[in-house]
Amino acid sequence: MDPLYNPFSPGAGSRPPELAGRENIVNDARIALARTIRGNNSQSQILLGLRGTGKTVLLNEIESIAENEGYITSFVEAPENRSLAEILYPQMRQILRKLSVLENARVAANVALSGLRNFASVFKIAVGDVEISAEPTPGSADSGDLEFDLTQMFELIGKAAKSANRGWALLIDEVQYLKDEELAAIIVSVHRVNQRNLPVIVVAAGLPQIAKLSGDAKSYSERLFDFPGVGALDRTAAIEAIRNPLIKEDIEIDDDALDLIIEMTAGYPFFIQEWGHNIWNSADSSPITLEDAQKASEKALARLDSGFFRVRMDRLTNAEIDYVNAMALLGTGPYKTTDVASQLGKDQSSLGPRRASIISKGMIYSPNYGDVDFTVPLFDDFLRRRLQQ
Ligand SMILES: Nc1ncnc2c1ncn2[C@@H]1O[C@H](COP(=O)(O)OP(=O)(O)OP(=O)(O)O)[C@@H](O)[C@H]1O
Ligand SMILES: [Mg+2]
Repeated sequence: MDPLYNPFSPGAGSRPPELAGRENIVNDARIALARTIRGNNSQSQILLGLRGTGKTVLLNEIESIAENEGYITSFVEAPENRSLAEILYPQMRQILRKLSVLENARVAANVALSGLRNFASVFKIAVGDVEISAEPTPGSADSGDLEFDLTQMFELIGKAAKSANRGWALLIDEVQYLKDEELAAIIVSVHRVNQRNLPVIVVAAGLPQIAKLSGDAKSYSERLFDFPGVGALDRTAAIEAIRNPLIKEDIEIDDDALDLIIEMTAGYPFFIQEWGHNIWNSADSSPITLEDAQKASEKALARLDSGFFRVRMDRLTNAEIDYVNAMALLGTGPYKTTDVASQLGKDQSSLGPRRASIISKGMIYSPNYGDVDFTVPLFDDFLRRRLQQ
């Protein structure tokens, strides 16, 4: 069928034609946003899921709900090698600039800008002289302790937003790349603004490897945050994700074709888009048949093997590739690190650094103590296909 009208959208963060199976997460976010901007306590979310399950899409969706609710929003992606202070600084400055032109928020925004100036200086963030014209106020966000200073900045921004009847929604993607103390600082800051009924909310998303929180951050995180899992779609949602976009284009699909797609994709959103994209291009006319779906499956797998999966392999060293191959040869995960070591014929303790490096590259994670698993769904199948060639 004409690729020009293909409704499916495989790609990082690209909005799917049908956001299937995520009603609960979206509704919970909507309630939290509506409560927070009214000064009511709410539970915020950290969305946890494997690669390609739709976390970024959800964060974008939640950002637009926030905008409709009256929030000024900031969307950041935690980088692998930069500090949280560095990525938040320009966002906080932009929010305060926007607030400072609103009549009711001007005074509070300028107070906050002067705190931000200290913040930039204690965290050695390179800023031009003209960036902030406010005079520094001693004692405001200038301790050099991230937890303390970020809490102060959240409070100052919250007060400024509140005086203009606005809110600040901070969306953080790839939250697994934050250092433990950075995530702790965010959680403690959220606790403070929540306690003071200020309209600031944080919604985050990342791989399901929870940071090792301790102290206050740990006890707050359990009460303040909900950690919804963003996983594979169940059968009903997977069917909707494929069928509804087709119906909108007046195209039917046979049940056995749908069954094949659900089996091949295991309900994972990214793969569903990839298969949808390929069945559309493979089929000549409605209804889409099992044969069309079989042709599409071959194309989709070939495309994934040479693209999506392949680029991830390219980030690994040869020794790391041996490690992930050993995992795949054990079957489907999670895998005990001791089993991986035996598979490799190596001593488990000597493999620690190699495992840590693969984890830091975001390829595998540790779902439980002593276990590892792939962060990319169906990656084990890919590795086995590759080993058989
Ligand atoms: N609920 C859904 N129904 C159908 N397709 C979806 C859904 N959510 C996301 N997708 C599709 O899945 C793909 C991956 O989405 P997204 O980039 O948000 O995943 P992610 O979890 O952020 O992945 P990564 O961890 O690699 O960043 C996109 O092509 C998107 O259109
Ligand atoms: Mg993403």
